[in-house]
Amino acid sequence: MKIVICYFSGTGNTQKIADCFVNCMTDSGHDVQSFSIDGLTLQKKLPTELTDAIIKCDLFGIGYPVYAFNAPPIVLAFARKLPHLLKQRKRTFIFNSSGEPLKLNNISSLKLCQYLRIRHFEVTNEYHYCMPYNIMFRHSDEMALKMWQTAQQLIPLDAEEILQGQKHLLERVKFGGIIAGTMRCEQWGGKLNGKLYSVSDNCVKCGKCVKDCPTHNIRITQKGKFRFGGKCLMCMRCAHFCPQNAIRIGLFNSWKVNGPYTFIEPKTEEEQQHYNKLLTKAYEKYFAAAEQRINDDK
Ligand SMILES: Cc1cc2nc3c(=O)[nH]c(=O)nc-3n(C[C@H](O)[C@H](O)[C@H](O)COP(=O)(O)O)c2cc1C
Ligand code: SF4
Ligand code: SF4
Repeated sequence: MKIVICYFSGTGNTQKIADCFVNCMTDSGHDVQSFSIDGLTLQKKLPTELTDAIIKCDLFGIGYPVYAFNAPPIVLAFARKLPHLLKQRKRTFIFNSSGEPLKLNNISSLKLCQYLRIRHFEVTNEYHYCMPYNIMFRHSDEMALKMWQTAQQLIPLDAEEILQGQKHLLERVKFGGIIAGTMRCEQWGGKLNGKLYSVSDNCVKCGKCVKDCPTHNIRITQKGKFRFGGKCLMCMRCAHFCPQNAIRIGLFNSWKVNGPYTFIEPKTEEEQQHYNKLLTKAYEKYFAAAEQRINDDK
């Protein structure tokens, strides 16, 4: 089977999940191609090579991080550029990652599904994985590792389910469309807040943030001043990966999470503490359900 997976990942969590799907499906003998959608929506049309691959594939996958109970605007813009498949019906699966395991996150794909449906992509499977927060607070290394290990055990089962043609859709909450629609104001807020980003004296002008921004929203003037434009997605990539922790994220600076997660066993007591005391029950429920699914399969 020919499979195409497209994804957006601000800070790497969703990319890890996409790579895991690629490996599982390749190991099952399928021909899998994956594409990051970074930068693709800045052009008028998607590259012909990608459009052709999508038209010809038997199964299409799309992945994203949840932003304010929605798919990021770059993912919606990408979906709007997908080809209309006319007579074909393309079997499609969706996967997303989010910092908390709330059921409310299940509404994040509503708008995306609408765009896909219009273009004859038929969403038959959808999966959510809890991964560490890249904004608001830093999960402990222990918790981040546990989330990633759980996802690594679930993805092979989910990939198999998709390949076997078994449907799996997420349960929506009541009034999901209204809630998701209201929360999409975050996208405008993000653009406005993006203009308030600034850089501290710690900056060593390495240029990493400029090079990595998926919307080319950051520029350094000839006088060495930083300019943040109006295309910010609030993806956190610049602030998360800045080696000097020099980027201030406007009004949300106290929520900044700087420095990549290592996803390795924590070595110190302090690293082992789970800083998040919020939603403890929801995380417990998420891990218990995952364990049950993994054990059921044994
Ligand atoms: C602007 C923004 C909004 C977010 N909103 C949510 C949310 O509504 N629910 C949630 O559980 N996590 C939310 N998160 C957390 C991310 O979805 C989570 O950390 C995700 O795994 C990041 O994936 P990435 O590394 O692929 O970008 C948000 C993150 C950002 C940057
Ligand atoms: S990544 Fe950090 S240190 Fe490098 S140019 Fe950007 S703000 Fe400066
Ligand atoms: S400015 Fe930073 S947060 Fe905004 S889109 Fe670019 S990398 Fe992402």
